[in-house]
Amino acid sequence: MRIYTKIEEVREGCRAAKSGGKRLGVVPTMGALHEGHLSLVRKARAGCDVVAATIFVNPTQFGPNEDLAKYPRSFERDCELLKKEGVEILFAPAVEEMYPRGAVTWVTVEGLSEKLDGRSRPGHFRGVTTVVAKLFHILEPDAAFFGQKDAAQVAIIKRMVRDLNLPVEIVVGEIVREADGLAMSSRNGYLDPQQRQQALALHRALLRVKTVADGGERDAEKLIAAGKAELAREAAARLDYFEIVDPVTLDPLRDISGGALAAVAAWIGNTRLLDNIQLGG
Ligand code: PAJ
Repeated sequence: MRIYTKIEEVREGCRAAKSGGKRLGVVPTMGALHEGHLSLVRKARAGCDVVAATIFVNPTQFGPNEDLAKYPRSFERDCELLKKEGVEILFAPAVEEMYPRGAVTWVTVEGLSEKLDGRSRPGHFRGVTTVVAKLFHILEPDAAFFGQKDAAQVAIIKRMVRDLNLPVEIVVGEIVREADGLAMSSRNGYLDPQQRQQALALHRALLRVKTVADGGERDAEKLIAAGKAELAREAAARLDYFEIVDPVTLDPLRDISGGALAAVAAWIGNTRLLDNIQLGG
């Protein structure tokens, strides 16, 4: 695995790797890798000739009171994991390399970026779309791999790619969970053992919604009420949002007959956790 920190060098490296029509797949990450990230790497490995990963804790997607400074970093370990998965190219730039002094240009997917996580994290998705657009321009991948864990991020990146005619296929990987159902996340490491148990409430609430939906309930308001009631059984969970939305527009739905996404964000202590589940039509 070749590790690059400079934009011009990784661009050269990717262009060379793509020569002869080889398909390049990219997995963008912020590091602190777990099985969720690695599942995307494996998906890329299976569908592409050359796989690149990126590790960049992107400051522009963190709010002023968020966890940028303490975000987990485990670069050496991450490199070992990526090597084992057969990744050929790793791009891990410094902040100054990605954001030249005086950078004032942003990519914003208006409307969608203010929904779900965007409502409680103003500017978050602007940071995500800007850095992802930059990574696409730098690496020029044929395909890029994102996790359904961050369902709003997926919808927003897909919209950006469509609206800006970016020549990259967006491939989405299923949510990878711990054995007890907790969605894997780099932030799970913030949880103490008691909070780790309490965090299960998110998945339980979504399963409750799915059970009620599978039983025939189509009314989103009733399904949300069922999910919120389940979540409220865990006193330590502080709700940010519980919504049932159209997976493409992220607009709230009244009726789930056409398919829907149930998404939850909640605080356990100082840790904000996300989870979601697809509801069939
Ligand atoms: P990060 O949180 O490191 O996640 C990198 C990718 O891994 C994202 O596409 C995310 O959805 C996926 N992922 C995380 N946990 C997962 C899980 N349990 N199952 C499946 N996939 C999972 O998301 C970001 O970084 C950043 O916003 C980024 C896109 C890199 C832009 O900075």
